[in-house]
Amino acid sequence: MKNTTVEQEKQRLLEELLSGLRQPQKMLPSKYFYDEIGSSLFEDICALREYYPTRTEIGILRDNINAITGRLGRRCLLIEYGSGASVKIRLLLDHLRNIAAYVPIDISADHLLNATEELRKEYPRVKIFPVPADYTQDFDLPEIDAPFNRRVVFFPGSTIGNFMPDQARGFLRHIAEVVGTDGGLLIGVDRKKSLSVLEAAYNDSKGVTADFNLNMLVRLNNEYNADFDLDAFRHEAVYNGVYGRIEMHLISKREQLVQIGSEQISFHSGESILTEYSYKYHPEEFAAIAKPWFHVDTVWTDAHGWFSVQYLTVR
Ligand code: AVJ
Repeated sequence: MKNTTVEQEKQRLLEELLSGLRQPQKMLPSKYFYDEIGSSLFEDICALREYYPTRTEIGILRDNINAITGRLGRRCLLIEYGSGASVKIRLLLDHLRNIAAYVPIDISADHLLNATEELRKEYPRVKIFPVPADYTQDFDLPEIDAPFNRRVVFFPGSTIGNFMPDQARGFLRHIAEVVGTDGGLLIGVDRKKSLSVLEAAYNDSKGVTADFNLNMLVRLNNEYNADFDLDAFRHEAVYNGVYGRIEMHLISKREQLVQIGSEQISFHSGESILTEYSYKYHPEEFAAIAKPWFHVDTVWTDAHGWFSVQYLTVR
């Protein structure tokens, strides 16, 4: 985002949230999950037995780390979208030869700056340029005063699955522009699999995903003086086989009116707010989506074929 104050940014976000809640299918953007509490709940999700993506992706990275970093080559400028606090980047930093610099981008500024501080202690020789930004909006990359051979975007976690296929295309086009000629994309893409594995991952038995989902309403209450009754909504995630996506909802348990700022939103009993899509792709489906901008160089996967880590190069 360019030259906007914190207040303007907050107002813009409120408009975005309200316009979603005015739709016939009410919705809230999934990026709104990630305040400090939401980011920490997401880390708890990643440690759940039912939530296979994180450990499976880390396993794939571990098992293939030399092949992967070999594709990225020497002196690469590594840009991570949605960096969080992950062990994934440490795996790459441990094995990349002469990394030119690391540019983590994250919407949760506190989370990002804490993670950067940690990484600087652990990797004193790596130049780190953190960018606190919503990467779905316009933002500036910092000036990097280090020579590099190629730019590579690292986009793990299957966050690409949060976009609808058309948005995913737009985002891949944006990444191709950012990395430029000879650039690369190292991306985690969740695969289609059995309904029971998928639905268990998004309806965990401890209710952590439910808390993560409900945290959106907590945020609206705290940040925009909304009056959501948290006991009057419940979490539900279902797999839609037609579109190949998990759909996360917050379902109103009764008919009710909710106040957000000067606006009133009405709910029928059973009416839902859609908070997230999580699309699952066969490798061929994903290759077709990326095709106008990227060539799929390599696809790595796990023994079950549940998840994939892919290296794509700009066409
Ligand atoms: C961060 C987008 C990868 O879709 O699996 C986890 C978010 N939502 N549980 C996903 C999420 C519910 C997650 N991503």
